[in-house]
Amino acid sequence: MLILSVESSCDETAVAITRDGREILSDKVASQVEMHALYGGVVPEIASRRHAEAIEGLYREAIREAGIQPCEIDAIAATFAPGLIGALLVGLNFAKGLAFSLGKPLIPVHHHRGHVAANYLVHPELEPPFCALVASGGHTLILGVDGYTSCRVLGCTRDDSAGEAFDKVARVMGLGYPGGVEIDRIAEGCDETAYKLPRARVSGSPHDMSFSGLKTAMINIVHNAEQKGEELRLGDLAASFRRAVVDEIVPRVIDCAECEGYKTVVLAGGVAANARLRETITDAASKHGLKLYLPPKKLCGDAAAMIGAQGYYEFLAGNVGDMSQNAYASLAADYTALPER
Ligand code: KG4
Ligand code: ZN
Repeated sequence: MLILSVESSCDETAVAITRDGREILSDKVASQVEMHALYGGVVPEIASRRHAEAIEGLYREAIREAGIQPCEIDAIAATFAPGLIGALLVGLNFAKGLAFSLGKPLIPVHHHRGHVAANYLVHPELEPPFCALVASGGHTLILGVDGYTSCRVLGCTRDDSAGEAFDKVARVMGLGYPGGVEIDRIAEGCDETAYKLPRARVSGSPHDMSFSGLKTAMINIVHNAEQKGEELRLGDLAASFRRAVVDEIVPRVIDCAECEGYKTVVLAGGVAANARLRETITDAASKHGLKLYLPPKKLCGDAAAMIGAQGYYEFLAGNVGDMSQNAYASLAADYTALPER
């Protein structure tokens, strides 16, 4: 089954063609990062406009690169939640138009389920059940994935997402946007014990996370140094921060897997590209006898192939939309019914 998929939930416009949820024929992404970097973060209005400008060209490129004709497409999948509402609507409406004109089914796909499904494209043997970490710019959560289209939220951040903390801290450190990659880069080989940073605990919810106290501690360190005219060791500071984020995440993911009896752990989302996170969870999983699947770095961030992969399984489960399909800025990955319009 050939699926054309569309992703436009944040600042990447993407169109892909995938086969049977497991094979990428083409995966085109137009990033808007350079434009948003001018403002230090994503400007929703600019994101929507850029999606509208880029999407048709990406569609043509995706078709050409896959070497197929539009009539060969069996279904159209698109991210419908969560994300920036104006941005989501551009991709979803494009997908609706295409589905209508080609007379093919429309498959609405949840962005977090898509991030998890990126792993199906590179790990042919991977199938549910497993425990997944989804760590992106907008969300950080631990999912119990019991079937391709059924999951439970086992833990989540109570405030900022891990990616948001990386981006905000990077901005204060003068490292530009998006900051996760930069912090990861300058932290390499530096002393991660150099700066003492807090580790949060959400009382009564051992699998929930919190990153805002850590972010504030980092902002205070930078501002205090500025006020006193002291030089910061940026590499060591980045390494200490990266370590603190990893310490917040990894034990909880391992504990969720063990408590719920999962034998397999899967990483997903932009932050899953983080070198220290990958290293630490690899060690922890092996110590606890858990099988671990990591997506390659290029499949961690937002792209459309992951939406096609999940779309295939949503289609098999009968989760098909129609021309009244709406987009939603917030919706948990374990939704069973859609919110009121
Ligand atoms: O999943 P994603 O591409 O988009 C959303 O769905 O939000 O995640 C983007 C986030 C950004 O916050 C970015 O800074 C972070 O992923 N990120 C990283 C790394 N690469 C991207 N964070 C830490 N280390 C990295 N290497
Ligand atoms: Zn994402």
